[in-house]
Amino acid sequence: MRRDMNITNLKKYRQRRRLVKLASIVLVSGLTIWSLLHFFFWHGSSSVSPASFFSSSKTAQEGGTFNPSLDQEKEIDYETVASSRAKSSPRGGSMPKLTDEILSNLSLDSETCRATFPGLMKEIDDTVAKGPFKVKRSSDLGPMQVRIKKGRIYVLHAQRKRDLSREMVNSRTAALHQLHRALLTLPPSDRSSISSEFDTILTINILDTPFGTALQYTRNADPVHAPSDPDARTFLIPHFSFWAWDLPFIGSISRAAAAITQLEETQFQGNRWHSHKDPRAVWRGTTWFNSIHNPQLRYKLVSTAKNKPWADVQGLEWSSSSSTNSDGNGNTNTKNASNSLAIEDFCKYKYVLHTEGISYSGRFQFLQMCASVTITPPIQWMQHTTHLVRPLFSSDLDLDKARSLRKRRDGKTKDTRAKPGNAKEGGWTPHVRHERAWPRRYEPNEANIVFVSPDWSDLEDTVHWLEEHPKVAEGIARRQRELFVGGGYFSPAAEACYWRELVRGWAKMARPEKGEFEELGVPYEEFVLSNGWD
Ligand SMILES: *[C@@H]1O[C@H](CO)[C@@H](O)[C@H](O)[C@H]1NC(C)=O
Ligand SMILES: *[C@@H]1O[C@H](CO)[C@@H](O)[C@H](O)[C@H]1NC(C)=O
Repeated sequence: MRRDMNITNLKKYRQRRRLVKLASIVLVSGLTIWSLLHFFFWHGSSSVSPASFFSSSKTAQEGGTFNPSLDQEKEIDYETVASSRAKSSPRGGSMPKLTDEILSNLSLDSETCRATFPGLMKEIDDTVAKGPFKVKRSSDLGPMQVRIKKGRIYVLHAQRKRDLSREMVNSRTAALHQLHRALLTLPPSDRSSISSEFDTILTINILDTPFGTALQYTRNADPVHAPSDPDARTFLIPHFSFWAWDLPFIGSISRAAAAITQLEETQFQGNRWHSHKDPRAVWRGTTWFNSIHNPQLRYKLVSTAKNKPWADVQGLEWSSSSSTNSDGNGNTNTKNASNSLAIEDFCKYKYVLHTEGISYSGRFQFLQMCASVTITPPIQWMQHTTHLVRPLFSSDLDLDKARSLRKRRDGKTKDTRAKPGNAKEGGWTPHVRHERAWPRRYEPNEANIVFVSPDWSDLEDTVHWLEEHPKVAEGIARRQRELFVGGGYFSPAAEACYWRELVRGWAKMARPEKGEFEELGVPYEEFVLSNGWD
């Protein structure tokens, strides 16, 4: 009896959904035609894509005082590219499938690189577009500088090892080797232009926060924080973990990638995503390690989620005394925590919580390899592929309604949810700085990550909402892995492509100060024997 009623309800519900769908298709097509006509008549422009029209109109509607300059740069549909590759069969499919052979080929030529990894070079292109800049000699304590001449590397300046932490020495070593590998594997077809395209002086900043003009790991996502110095440039480099990371639970990206692939492909394929992944949201980290922009981030996460049935959130319990070397997440090199997880084990959960630290978190790209939903406050620090994420803002979901339905179903009248004092009922509104950093928001069926309130106040409701919309949740999770792993953006081939393009872009715009770089420098091969001076 009850079952029949449910089925009738379901039918009615489906009918209603079909009607709503039909109505929205009619509405959307009408709007599209109208907007295209509107654009052609008013702007006479043929270069405007419907995507950019949609995003700017949406921002204007919701953004309050925020008034973005119309960004009419053509929008690349990375995800479509990646998923069309993943699905492409020998018969059909528009893009060739990325084979292991391609993804491990370090010698793709520049044209093939761009065609194989659309959008990969965006950060480089944006920085090159800012025009020429001066390169000045580093001070004694300043960042490393190297000369590239005919494809060979010479070290002009390097900080003394005793002035650097162990992790900084590791990062610097990794960056040098990454650069060297990319130059060494330059394809023969690109070799003729080696002097004209690559000869330059590079400045390499391996600190966690960006400073001045250099190759660096991160930049602030909010354009308002762009430095005012007209010569300041941040050319983003791939994280040192693309070479190696001497943390016991990571190792290197190739080890972690293999472990994650093994897990995803043997344990969580098909329906097993739902039945075998742990339905909780997972996090491990050090609570005291926080950003100046959101100093309470980790405390709030732990107080919101600790011991909740929907979460497996634990502050790390270190087994030995503390040290100052850290992984961008407050986890140190020299000790072990009894409740730590191997990086691949995060992928055993449907939801992985991401927290930035003092700046970016080097763990991000590992979480992005999981077919799991990454949940994070809006990202504030960009790394070289962060622009590929497509955020669904939890503030765009009707969490209130979902909560009251849930309460009614559970027969509860009282809302027992923990409510921080400053969170207003009805969720959160992204701050203008979030809208500047992320002008485009995505629908649940196109997103590949979820952004929640920076105080985590709607984390519980968001996790419940995703559990109640399992298709949506799985879609977000699978799109993340499909893009970053399936699309090859974290592959060795992409990394080598990226470094070469980076040096080309820098060399094209860099103007080393005359007379400041007279000497040739210490050859790379000699420098790496001692790896710097004490
Ligand atoms: C790598 O790619 C280049 C083309 O960019 C090709 O010439 C070369 O044969 C490839 N190498 C391997 C091992 O597949
Ligand atoms: C760290 O501690 C955990 C739990 O005590 C243990 O399983 C793991 O093997 C340890 N790892 C290392 C590298 O010592």
